Amino acid sequence: MSYDDKPGRPAVAVIGLGQMGARLAQAFLAAGYRTTVWNRTVAKADALVAQGAVRAASAAEAVGAAPLAVVCLTGYHAVRDVLATSTLQGRTVVNLASGAPDEARDLAAWVSGHGAAYLDGAAMSGTRLVGRREALFIFSGSADAFAEHQGVLASLGNAVHLGADPALASLYDGALFGLAWGTLAGFYHAVALVAAEGVVATGFVSVATSHMPFVTSLMTEHARQIQDGRYPDDDGTVDVHAAAMAHLLHASAAAGIRTDVPELFTNLLERASAAGHGADGVASTITTLSKGAAA
Ligand SMILES: NC(=O)c1ccc[n+]([C@@H]2O[C@H](COP(=O)([O-])OP(=O)(O)OC[C@H]3O[C@@H](n4cnc5c(N)ncnc54)[C@H](OP(=O)(O)O)[C@@H]3O)[C@@H](O)[C@H]2O)c1
Repeated sequence: MSYDDKPGRPAVAVIGLGQMGARLAQAFLAAGYRTTVWNRTVAKADALVAQGAVRAASAAEAVGAAPLAVVCLTGYHAVRDVLATSTLQGRTVVNLASGAPDEARDLAAWVSGHGAAYLDGAAMSGTRLVGRREALFIFSGSADAFAEHQGVLASLGNAVHLGADPALASLYDGALFGLAWGTLAGFYHAVALVAAEGVVATGFVSVATSHMPFVTSLMTEHARQIQDGRYPDDDGTVDVHAAAMAHLLHASAAAGIRTDVPELFTNLLERASAAGHGADGVASTITTLSKGAAA
């Protein structure tokens, strides 16, 4: 039965019911959408069917059951393999598999060539928050398709459309992953440092998180400086930060913990200083990281 034949609740199909796909399907069900599901390993659909999902016998049947097919498989190659037998004409395909920007462009061209609209997407907040407003989902590709399906996609969380280039979601995905890891690496080092003096992680974390609004305010201010190409020393110069980093390095070594995290930060600051930015604001570090700087 095609979705056109079956009036009632708006429909969505979810293809791929791994850790993430199953959570997506649950969120659509919770939001009241008629949710058709398919997974290569059939048994993974059982729990969702028990919650009210409709089981499709094939990926092609799932695509036929809804105007919107949300696909969440291991990678782009699997997405193309699985959709190869489907009639995509007139549908919208949303791909939430992780990959590289060029893979997103290739898949977008392939899907468009089959007469469907394409949105590339990335789930930025793991599986635990899916279905809640705090869960960030980024999308790029067809603006019309996003406008048409925004309501459905918003049941996953905070659904943000980045632009028409299908590669943008993948680009942001990688950039934000690196941002999160930079923050977490600093956090893990900090926890190791205070733990060496007997402070437990759960005691430290409330102070650490209360410091984060200041850090995010720096990101906002420094983005403006980077945009302007001017680096005032309001938040400390590169050399002042390098001196403070030397204290952190010393304290870490004295505490007997690994120093590789502050060494990375020291390298960045020393390189910025060597490039003539010692008296500039710390955001000038960007000039040693940007395209062309490696030469
Ligand atoms: N889990 C997370 O927290 C998270 C967060 C952000 C993004 N993501 C991204 O979401 C995507 C899926 O992640 P996941 O955690 O759900 O992975 P997963 O639990 O390993 O599930 C992988 C899914 O892909 C299917 N699959 C793989 N190759 C296939 C093929 N050739 N044909 C048909 N189906 C195939 C699997 O089917 P079977 O069940 O039959 O093996 C399963 O449904 C990945 O790109 C991941 O990077 C995940």
